[in-house]
Amino acid sequence: MDEREADALWWAWRRSCEGAELCTQVETATGPTVVVPEVVEMVLGPPTTLLVKLLPGQLIGDVRRAALRLAPHLGAAALRVQPVGRIHARIELLDADPLTGTVALQLPAAPGRVLLGRDEGARELTQDWADLAHTIVQGVTRSGKSVFTYGLLAQMAADQRITVCGIDPTGLLFRPFAGTRHAAHQVSGVADPHAYLRLLHDLVAEMDERITSLPADRDTLEVSAEAPMRLVVLEEYAGLLRTADQDKQVGKDVRVAIGRLLAEGAKAGFRVVIIVQRAEATIVGAYERAMCSLRISFRTDNQTSVELLHPGTPRELGEAHTTALPGIALLSAPGEDLTRFRAPFLGGYGAYVRAVIEACQADPDTGAAAAAA
Ligand SMILES: Nc1ncnc2c1ncn2[C@@H]1O[C@H](COP(=O)(O)OP(=O)(O)O)[C@@H](O)[C@H]1O
Ligand SMILES: [Mg+2]
Repeated sequence: MDEREADALWWAWRRSCEGAELCTQVETATGPTVVVPEVVEMVLGPPTTLLVKLLPGQLIGDVRRAALRLAPHLGAAALRVQPVGRIHARIELLDADPLTGTVALQLPAAPGRVLLGRDEGARELTQDWADLAHTIVQGVTRSGKSVFTYGLLAQMAADQRITVCGIDPTGLLFRPFAGTRHAAHQVSGVADPHAYLRLLHDLVAEMDERITSLPADRDTLEVSAEAPMRLVVLEEYAGLLRTADQDKQVGKDVRVAIGRLLAEGAKAGFRVVIIVQRAEATIVGAYERAMCSLRISFRTDNQTSVELLHPGTPRELGEAHTTALPGIALLSAPGEDLTRFRAPFLGGYGAYVRAVIEACQADPDTGAAAAAA
C-alpha cells in the first residue's frame, strides 16, 4: 500500500469527521481532545474502503447522515456506508453517484412481492405487497412519480389477490386496464366529479362490509382472490381534488371518503397510494399525511418539501435532492433509516401498456376481453 496516500487519507478522514461533527470531545490530562471513529483497516482500491469503528453512542445512521459532508474531502463523489457487525462501518469511496444508471424491472414479479427500487448499496428494496402501507409519493413534474407507479401496477396487475382501483385524472395510468377485471373500480379523466365520488362511496361501503364480517378471531382481513386487496391509487391528487371541488359538496365528500379509507381501510385489505407534486398541507391534510407511513419523495423544489414527508432529513441531503435525476427518490418507512433509492424503469409508456395487457391476459376471467381491447 502506498504509505503516503494512506497517510493522507487517514488525515482527511480525521479532519472531515471533525468538520462534519462526527466526533466527540474527551477530557485528557493534557486538555480536551477530539476523537473520531478509528480507522481500523484501509484498502487503497479502487474501490478505496475504510473500515472504521464507531464511537460509543454512534450509529451507522450517524455516519450515513454525515456522508455528503465527508465525501468531497475524502476525494469521493459519494460514500457507500455499510454496517459490519454492531459497531463497525465499511465506507466505500465512490467516484460516481451509486444511483447513476437505470434499474430495469423484471416481469413477472416474484409472487407476492413487489420491487420498489434499488438503494445506494445496490440492495433491491423488495417487500411483500401485503405488507405495503398506505403510501404517499411526491415530486415535481417529470421527477418520476408516474414511472414509479407504472412499475408498481405492472408488477401487481397480474395477481388475482389484488385489484388496481382509484382515480386517474390524467387518463394515462388506467388506460391499459380497459376491459380487465380492474376497470370496474377505476375512474379516469376530469369530466365527471360525481364519478369520483361514486367510486369512493362504493369502496367505502365495501370496506365497511368487510369490517363488519371479519371473523370473530381476526382483526384484519386476509386478502384472497375472492376478497382481493384494493389498491386505491389517487394519481395527480391536487388535480383530482380540483376536479372534485367543481361541486363543493362533492369535494367535501371525496375528502371524507378518502379519509375513511386511510383511517380504517388497512385492516380491510385497502391500501391508498396518493401521488402529488407537493405534499403541502393545503392539498394533503396533516391527518392524511400521517396515515401514510410509506413516504417517497422524488425531486422536490426545496428542502422544505422534503421535510414535509421526511422530518429530520439532514439539510444537505434535502438540498441535494432538489437536483435529483428523474427516478431518484428518498424513502421513509417505519423503523427504517431514510433511504435514497432509484425506482425501476420498465421502458417508456408503451412498455407499461404492454406489461399491463400481458399481465391481465393471464387472467382467467377477463383475459379474452383484455386481448380484444
Ligand atoms: N426510474 C426512472 N428511471 C429512468 N428514467 C426515469 C425514471 N423515472 C422517470 N424517468 C424519466 O423521467 C420522465 C418523467 O417521469 P414521470 O414519471 O412521467 O414524471 P412525473 O409523473 O413525476 O411527472 C420519464 O418519461 C422518463 O424519461
Ligand atoms: Mg405524472
